[in-house]
Amino acid sequence: MTSSQASSTSVEELELPLSAGFLRAEGISRSFRGVKALAEVTLEIPRGRITGLIGPNGAGKSTLVNILSGYERPDIGSVAMNNVDITRQTAHQKSRSGVARTFQHGHLFRSLSVLENVQVSALANGSGRRQAQRTAVGILDRLDLLPWGGLSAGHLPHGVERRLGVARALATAPEYLLLDEPAAGLNDGEMENFRNTIHSISADLNIGVLLIDHNMRLIFAASDYIYVLAGGQNVLQGDPDVVRSDEKLATSYLGTIASTLAKPTS
Ligand SMILES: Nc1ncnc2c1ncn2[C@@H]1O[C@H](COP(=O)(O)OP(=O)(O)OP(=O)(O)O)[C@@H](O)[C@H]1O
Ligand SMILES: [Mg+2]
Repeated sequence: MTSSQASSTSVEELELPLSAGFLRAEGISRSFRGVKALAEVTLEIPRGRITGLIGPNGAGKSTLVNILSGYERPDIGSVAMNNVDITRQTAHQKSRSGVARTFQHGHLFRSLSVLENVQVSALANGSGRRQAQRTAVGILDRLDLLPWGGLSAGHLPHGVERRLGVARALATAPEYLLLDEPAAGLNDGEMENFRNTIHSISADLNIGVLLIDHNMRLIFAASDYIYVLAGGQNVLQGDPDVVRSDEKLATSYLGTIASTLAKPTS
């Protein structure tokens, strides 16, 4: 080890295997006009795994994704990627660092084609034109979107639009991919396809995926590990079997925990 490595590398970092790493939110709190959206939330997304995030409406899931991806700043707490603090990076910087996300509602260029949408995303992240073209074609192929490549993104079936959102995120060559309700509105067949797609993204590309969805069948089938948020707090976490069998999960979905924890702070 060189002395420069020794001065900039923590002990924890040295113990990580080469292909490992994680995106970690630590003790995140965030309020909006006195209402606590998140209170000391901690969550870890390992590379090559699918981490599920569930909780009732208003639990703070999207706020956490906004903070992890740089669209919001936490009031308190930190975000680290592979043991490097990236809390204060902007969304663009985080994207360049390797954190990509999809949005709950669209965020596509509706007047551009499917292929162009993915190319623009690669270009914005620093690829040259030729590289962006190659990257975009490869991603469309992986997501079974090639037949749609020339069509306008403004006129796509719902399932295709959702996959295009993932394709745009993948075009930034992420290490971590945050998917905020990517499967909303998909039928059973599309859902199964989608699950296979995200499994191959995490396993083949060694990407750490955060999957938010209200469809419990998808979450429990796809996730390696699951976090439950309610009222802006961590209420439960564990392997799918552990979470499935815990009655706290049912309670939080009934809203009991959510309504008691989400009261405005004075
Ligand atoms: N920009 C904002 N301004 C004011 N309040 C906000 C803002 N963003 C989120 N909130 C509030 O923070 C809380 C958490 O919202 P968030 O969107 O993170 O929940 P969610 O778990 O993603 O819900 P859903 O399942 O409905 O998508 C809610 O009370 C919401 O109204
Ligand atoms: Mg949300």
